[in-house]
Amino acid sequence: MSFYPAYPLKATILAFNLMTIKEAKKEIARLTSLINYYNKQYFQDARSEISDYEFDQLLEKLIQLENQFPALRLKDSPTQSVGEAPSKNFETVYHQYPMLSLSNTYSEKEIDEFVKRIHKLLKEESIEFFCELKFDGVAMSLLYEHGALKRVVTRGDGEKGDDIMRNAKTIKTIPQFIKGSDIPQAFEVRGEAFIPRATFEALNKERASQGEELLANPRNAASGTLKMLDATVVAQRGLDCYLYVLISDEMNLPTHEAGVKLLEKWGFHVSPTYKKCKTVQEIMNYIDHWKTKKSNLPAEVDGIVVKVNRIAQQNKLGATAKSPRWAIAYKYKPASTSTVLEKVIYQVGRTGAITPVAQLQPVRLAGTTVKRASLHNADEIERLNLHEGDTVFVEKGGEIIPKVIGVDVVKRKPGSKAIPFITHCPDCATPLTREEGEAVHYCPNQKNCPPQIKGGIAHFVHRKAMDIDSIGSKTVALLFKKGLVHTPADLYTLRYEEVYPLEGFKETATQNLLQGIAHSKQMPFENVLFALGIRHVGETAAEKLAHHFQNIDALAHASLEELTAVPEIGEKVAKSVITYFQDTHNLQLLASLKQAGLKFATEKSKATQQSQLLQGKNFVISGVFKNFEREALKYIVKKNGGKVLSSISEKLDYLIAGEKAGPTKLAKAKKLGIKILSEEALTKMVEQ
Ligand code: IVH
Repeated sequence: MSFYPAYPLKATILAFNLMTIKEAKKEIARLTSLINYYNKQYFQDARSEISDYEFDQLLEKLIQLENQFPALRLKDSPTQSVGEAPSKNFETVYHQYPMLSLSNTYSEKEIDEFVKRIHKLLKEESIEFFCELKFDGVAMSLLYEHGALKRVVTRGDGEKGDDIMRNAKTIKTIPQFIKGSDIPQAFEVRGEAFIPRATFEALNKERASQGEELLANPRNAASGTLKMLDATVVAQRGLDCYLYVLISDEMNLPTHEAGVKLLEKWGFHVSPTYKKCKTVQEIMNYIDHWKTKKSNLPAEVDGIVVKVNRIAQQNKLGATAKSPRWAIAYKYKPASTSTVLEKVIYQVGRTGAITPVAQLQPVRLAGTTVKRASLHNADEIERLNLHEGDTVFVEKGGEIIPKVIGVDVVKRKPGSKAIPFITHCPDCATPLTREEGEAVHYCPNQKNCPPQIKGGIAHFVHRKAMDIDSIGSKTVALLFKKGLVHTPADLYTLRYEEVYPLEGFKETATQNLLQGIAHSKQMPFENVLFALGIRHVGETAAEKLAHHFQNIDALAHASLEELTAVPEIGEKVAKSVITYFQDTHNLQLLASLKQAGLKFATEKSKATQQSQLLQGKNFVISGVFKNFEREALKYIVKKNGGKVLSSISEKLDYLIAGEKAGPTKLAKAKKLGIKILSEEALTKMVEQ
């Protein structure tokens, strides 16, 4: 059964008729701010607390109200714009033609109405529809000039987006050059970037083994990935894309299909799932066919798109501010069912993050038995207004993990109590904390809370950290249970006689384990730093911090300003680093690990210095550069004998300023009479 009690559309429409202007004003304000909140979450943070379906229902409600009371529409109404504000981390590019959205529906009746409307508008003309799958990824526009890929831009707010060329270039199926006699001088291709389902699952498996928070769904993962600043990390995420439209002023394409065929011919990745349809029945058959078959495809599909095929007809039909009149998306409702909530259980992650999970009476849903569903955090439990023994609606959409989306209040037993979020850790009973502006509760007892201790050690030995592959989570649990290991430093004092008698160990396993631990002492500083498990310091942040500060003492004494001056280190990470080094337990751990012989400084570069041209000169690098990454500029400075500092002071000789260099840095440098260089000027200096 598919049933959404939270937003019964018909009842809402009826209610509108009885609404006073005052009530409508209030409701419009509420919906506008709620939808804008979810939009920001979706586009800027690449996450979502509600399902697509719920979102669409909210939007539909707002559209209806605004139609009924047009004068009450607010300036920032989400019905008037698409997508997101461009990000400050990427160059903003204006689209030659706006990147519109699609009007969408969950009802087959509305597809029938769409077809009828088109026939009515185009009178006697014969009409062909081009049906495609709606891929649930991130919209991209690829710009080619003289056969070469020039830019890749996100949809952004529809009018302008972010130039994500460097990241998109890691997608192997995007051709960098196109050859052929029929290639226009300039053309644009639009499509969807996505993380293939299998790649996404592997990525989450990896994160789970590290005790890291799972990525909610492939779309969010793809969107977050394309906004990363480090293209090498993007490359590891294995993105792919499907392209679905060709635009060029130089060609007079008769049909949408002709463009798609050219894309195929030129070697673009086009999904072969499209179909030309004449009648509503053919469109319905297409919808039905892919409803079940879509799960065999590599990309997540959330619906189908019906497009009028002839371009002349598309032009006649035109577009509204938000979407073309010649196309519509039919979206598949996510599979959903209802079942009884047995209880809410709470998991404690390695960082102490508390995740509530609904334990359910087992129920079949879309081919699997569901026993658990995610509840995200305390706000979500409150939003759902969960009560003991409630019958809940569970949905499995694009997400791998099903989620609770609503409560069947009609079935609530009288007198049942609301479920409050826990106040104390379920494992160690420590009072939980929640930082302002954060959705997550934490158990602050990092040192003595068992799941945190075990999680911390499992993270420490992980392949991407100290790479001790002779120790898995099971061994960690065993060593902890036997009282042999309480902190990562205890690994380095383990003795043969202590390990040998353990269950499942004999001579070889014991030797392997001890050897693995001994070898790990060779791991470079950046791995050690990542292994420490400082909250919010992932693999990339650890690498950046290690390269920048070179040793643990410099890092431990860095100020907030110095930390945030490091590329890609934001305030959240910086604050967490500072907190980490203020804790005496952590300092003790570091001392023990140092004594064990772990590396707490980067190795001096083995490469010989290139020149002495910048000897004795101090540099600060600020902004974004055309030809180099900041790290590369630092490397050039250092290789030629110069030193890179993080803040402007009298000691400084040069400020290398790129686009968007910090205005306070520039002003301070000017005031102190420090020379400001471009990246070209720096390369000239070392060329001599
Ligand atoms: S056509 C104006 N075709 O859906 C026409 N869009 O809600 C807009 N999408 O921004 C694009 N698969 O990101 C089109 N086969 C497909 C699509 C598709 C996915 C996305 C695209 C667009 C959004 C519209």
